[in-house]
Amino acid sequence: TKQVYSGIQPTSIPHLGNYFGAIKQWVDIQNKQRPHQSNPLIISIVDLHAITMPKDPRLLNDYIYKCAATLLSCGIDPERTILYKQSQVAYHGQLSWILGCRVTLPQLSRMHQYKTKSDGLSEVPLGLFTYPVLQAADILLFRGTHVPIGEDQLQHLELCRSIAEKFNNAYGIDFFPRPVPIESEFTRLKSLRDPAKKMSKSDPDAGSRIELVDPADIIEKKIRKSVTDSMRLISYDPKGRPGLSTLIDLEAACTDLLPEEIAERCLLQATDKAEYKKHVSKVLVEHLRPIQAKYSRLIDDKKYLNSILDDGARRANSIAENNFRQICKIVGCG
Ligand code: TYM
Repeated sequence: TKQVYSGIQPTSIPHLGNYFGAIKQWVDIQNKQRPHQSNPLIISIVDLHAITMPKDPRLLNDYIYKCAATLLSCGIDPERTILYKQSQVAYHGQLSWILGCRVTLPQLSRMHQYKTKSDGLSEVPLGLFTYPVLQAADILLFRGTHVPIGEDQLQHLELCRSIAEKFNNAYGIDFFPRPVPIESEFTRLKSLRDPAKKMSKSDPDAGSRIELVDPADIIEKKIRKSVTDSMRLISYDPKGRPGLSTLIDLEAACTDLLPEEIAERCLLQATDKAEYKKHVSKVLVEHLRPIQAKYSRLIDDKKYLNSILDDGARRANSIAENNFRQICKIVGCG
């Protein structure tokens, strides 16, 4: 059976890259489900992944709620989707150990995210290295078959497939599926400060990303200061004018216009870059308005957020327990 599974790190408020690269697809997939489907979409707030780099415990705890509130505001419906916090399902850690016994050091050393994040660290935490094993355990614990993610996570998913295959071969059983990605059309939103980089929660420069709950004046400022080029008028050229093209992509993602149509309209009206930036800010602010309105209603209601996460954990645990019991049997522990 088809099981769609994905996750997000609660390391800050989700940004437009998370939204257009992943969250928006989750909501679309959820909304196409039948009511009370027996294999609903499962989304995890992966707090155990978030501590691979040092995190202030109070901040992390805050971000877990902020992340949950953001996802609900974007349209995740806890009646139709299992939304839970990873650390509330203890089988993640246990399966991660079992899968770690099937991965080699060179396989893990090849991971781009590991290479980037460990680069320059004098001491590399083991968790940073085994991060993708835990990610594979997330997906395989629920026998996930489809994983809606951005481009930056494709390599981790490829590793997950390889781990699933090795496990199946080692035990001579076709137990784990080989999960495939579901990619959005918008798989790699660029940083607003440096179009050679992706928009990222871990970029120290907050001007590089727009968080979904940024107020209108901040959005306007970040767009105004975004790095483009020295040409005055607008054209869509992702290779030659990556900064400006990112802004056009953002407008396209918020509307049903194609980037080329937007560029043509700008050319007809001789819109210059400063005017265009103002226009994009307006489009974004409008697009985010309903999300932000819902967020401000939810964020102070910790009791409600806890009830959603607890209920999600209960449902996730019951699926995970059943699968984990079978896995233990296969391995010989159960
Ligand atoms: P995370 O928290 O970094 O990002 C959540 C999702 O957002 C996507 N994304 C982007 N898409 C387009 N453009 C961008 N600039 C951009 N930045 C982020 C990511 O690809 C991701 O889909 N390791 C994962 C979390 C995870 C997970 C899992 C995902 C843990 N276990 C199991 C799927 C299945 C991560 O750090 O995502």
